[in-house]
Amino acid sequence: MKLLQDVSSVRNFTQKQTAKQEIGLVPTMGALHRGHRALLEASLQNNDLTICSIYVNPTQFNNPDDLDKYPRTLEHDLKFLEEVGCDAVFCPPNQVMYPKKEQQLLQLSFGHLDKILEGQHRPGHFSGVGLVVSKLLNIVQPRRAYFGQKDLQQLAIIRQMVREFCISVEIMSVPIVREASGLALSSRNQRLSSEEKQVATQLYRTLLFAQQQYEIGIDLTTIKQQVLDRLSRDTGIRVEYFEVVRIDDFHLIEEADKSGAIAFCVAAYVGDVRLIDNIIVPPAKSTQQEH
Ligand code: PAJ
Repeated sequence: MKLLQDVSSVRNFTQKQTAKQEIGLVPTMGALHRGHRALLEASLQNNDLTICSIYVNPTQFNNPDDLDKYPRTLEHDLKFLEEVGCDAVFCPPNQVMYPKKEQQLLQLSFGHLDKILEGQHRPGHFSGVGLVVSKLLNIVQPRRAYFGQKDLQQLAIIRQMVREFCISVEIMSVPIVREASGLALSSRNQRLSSEEKQVATQLYRTLLFAQQQYEIGIDLTTIKQQVLDRLSRDTGIRVEYFEVVRIDDFHLIEEADKSGAIAFCVAAYVGDVRLIDNIIVPPAKSTQQEH
């Protein structure tokens, strides 16, 4: 596996490939786990070459403490990528991604998409995500780039950005990988104690409960109240939001919409670790999860 650390070495690597060879990019912030592996495997299956990027992007952290505490496990990650069969890894230092630190950074805004849920609770987060992902797409120029449904709003933001900037790439989405307990895999889970991990499983159980209630026709206002009641019973959980969005345009909805897919989205603190999760509920008669 090739280790690439600056823009020109990525360009040299990608330009050596013939025009017919398709490149898949899997952007990550490292501390790799089976969720990342699902993205890598999808890319390996559909492309001739897979490049994984590992970069803890400072501009998307609205909380400096979260940035400091973000797990960094490069040695483990490189081994992990070798085992999966990844062709190259791009691990740029900060000065490669943000060469003029003191200069005013480009700010991106995504209309209603960055005013709700994660956008509302993490000001500036999606501007930083958009900035770094556009840089990565421009540096690598992949045929396809892979993102997880774990970060459903991020996926919507990236699709919008690619459309607006006419970036020539296909954005591929991969379903959430969970532990047997239902807990969605996340690099931040490393910061949970074993008791906190147990408490955190309540999030997915509550999403499943919400889905069941929705499918038997309970209205969304009641479901929201039931969910907040259930989660507040657990003293180890502090809910930041629980909302329902329509998948096709990512608008918040207050009333059932059985014609299209919807998603229940939750963000909550377990101890001092902020976790997010979601569940996509397909339209009534469809069995396909399309996103
Ligand atoms: P990171 O949190 O490392 O996640 C990298 C990719 O893995 C994202 O697309 C995320 O949705 C996906 N992922 C994480 N956990 C997953 C799980 N349990 N199942 C399926 N996919 C999962 O998301 C980021 O990094 C950053 O914002 C990034 C896009 C790299 C920009 O800095």
